[in-house]
Amino acid sequence: MKIFLDSANIEEIREAKSLGAIEGVTTNPSLLAHEKGDWKKIVRQICREVEGPVNVEVIAQDRTGMLSEARDLVKLAPNVVVKIPVTIEGLKAIAELRERGVETNATLVFSPNQALLAAKAGASYVSPFIGRLDDIGQDGVQVLQDIMTIFRNYDLPTQVLAASIRHTNHFFQVSLLGADCATVPLAVLLDLAKHPLTDIGLAKFMDDWAGQQKK
Ligand code: E4P
Repeated sequence: MKIFLDSANIEEIREAKSLGAIEGVTTNPSLLAHEKGDWKKIVRQICREVEGPVNVEVIAQDRTGMLSEARDLVKLAPNVVVKIPVTIEGLKAIAELRERGVETNATLVFSPNQALLAAKAGASYVSPFIGRLDDIGQDGVQVLQDIMTIFRNYDLPTQVLAASIRHTNHFFQVSLLGADCATVPLAVLLDLAKHPLTDIGLAKFMDDWAGQQKK
């Protein structure tokens, strides 16, 4: 499973990169809005920092506007993947971008039917938002599992990118199911490395070592 960082913050991206674990980045309009400065410069900087795909979302909601923004986004760097929300207009834009050879990430996916249509339209990735489904009392991981079953049934090449991952158990569950990619905030990425028994074990080793030094 490829791990992407869900952030538009360059310091967070550098910190995650130093762990040697991230293979791409996902941004969204909310994440970019948190950052100071010209968003295009920020995206270019992220694209230089990370070799893998850097997902950047369109703001327009009509097909023509999305296509025009996608044209500009892919000029920012060769590793930009254009995020398009799954709406009727978004699906039309994804289909046209496939014809033009532009990689897309179908975002704001909340159902297997949306994911299947996005895959048919030619999205390179679909992003089910697991945490936001949990927020409304649905089972986000189950939705991801259903999407994966359908994609396997029909041998669809679109990659399933688990998004809106809020905690380490989400991450564990989607990796167990075999999601192609998971995007995680830095806090979750760091939590993946932690275990209380590691801390207890380390403290014991250090205590024992201090005792050995006194001999
Ligand atoms: C993914 O591409 C999205 O940016 C992200 O995972 C959304 O997560 P949230 O629901 O925690 O905002």
